[in-house]
Amino acid sequence: MLKIILLGAPGAGKGTQGNLISKKYGFPKISTGDILREAVKNRTPLGMKAKEKMDKGELVDDEIILGIIKERVSREDCKKGFILDGFPRNIKQAEEFEKLGIEGKELAILFEVKDEEIIRRLSSRRVCKNCGAIYNLVVSPPKKEGVCDKCGGELIQRDDDRPEVIKRRLSVYKEQTEPLVKFYENRGILGKVNAEGEIEQIFNSVCDIIGQYL
Ligand code: AP5
Repeated sequence: MLKIILLGAPGAGKGTQGNLISKKYGFPKISTGDILREAVKNRTPLGMKAKEKMDKGELVDDEIILGIIKERVSREDCKKGFILDGFPRNIKQAEEFEKLGIEGKELAILFEVKDEEIIRRLSSRRVCKNCGAIYNLVVSPPKKEGVCDKCGGELIQRDDDRPEVIKRRLSVYKEQTEPLVKFYENRGILGKVNAEGEIEQIFNSVCDIIGQYL
């Protein structure tokens, strides 16, 4: 059992690399952001509660997030391992996750990217409405404009990828999520990756780190 935690600022490439890790190692990728966006799309009570916070770039309440995670990691497909993308987001979430007492090795991978690059990436990101595939209009555009290569679904811009929300998300990251770097460093389970450059190259570095834990 390997629990992989992807850490890094918004737009650092957690989702992109998480999809590649999932494909190569067969662990499910659990993205709290994706789960929340799905709930918003379906207008569930959870989605209605989360939307206001997400639109402002603020964190959704810990109780909601912990409820989602507890349920998701208890499923059968998580028995051999899983990848957490976007969780934990603060020390409280990390501590509560530890209290679940899930047996197995734990590894946190930090994706390091400069702020200017993050802003560039998020403003040119498009995601498939149907399958969640991630594109960058500059670096990895779809073959046909506005259409997903993988499933033919419509490509959209996320509501929180507007400049004023990006700014807030970055400061929330620095205030609340960045302290997790020390948290995992102190536990001796943090691997750092320079997340600027080619997606493939970054993935090779990620695999090197995972290889040491398997
Ligand atoms: P969430 O969905 O988790 O968003 P995020 O952390 O802000 O991360 P992103 O999805 O924006 O970026 P990413 O690192 O996955 O980058 P990506 O691979 O897409 O959270 C959204 C909201 O939900 C939060 O603000 C909060 O409200 C709520 N929430 C979620 N989890 C929560 C929690 N645990 N607690 C409380 N609230 C929570 O890449 C970005 C772009 O860059 C793409 O266009 C991609 O194609 C491109 N790209 C990737 N790699 C490269 C590269 N090497 N070079 C050039 N471009 C690249």
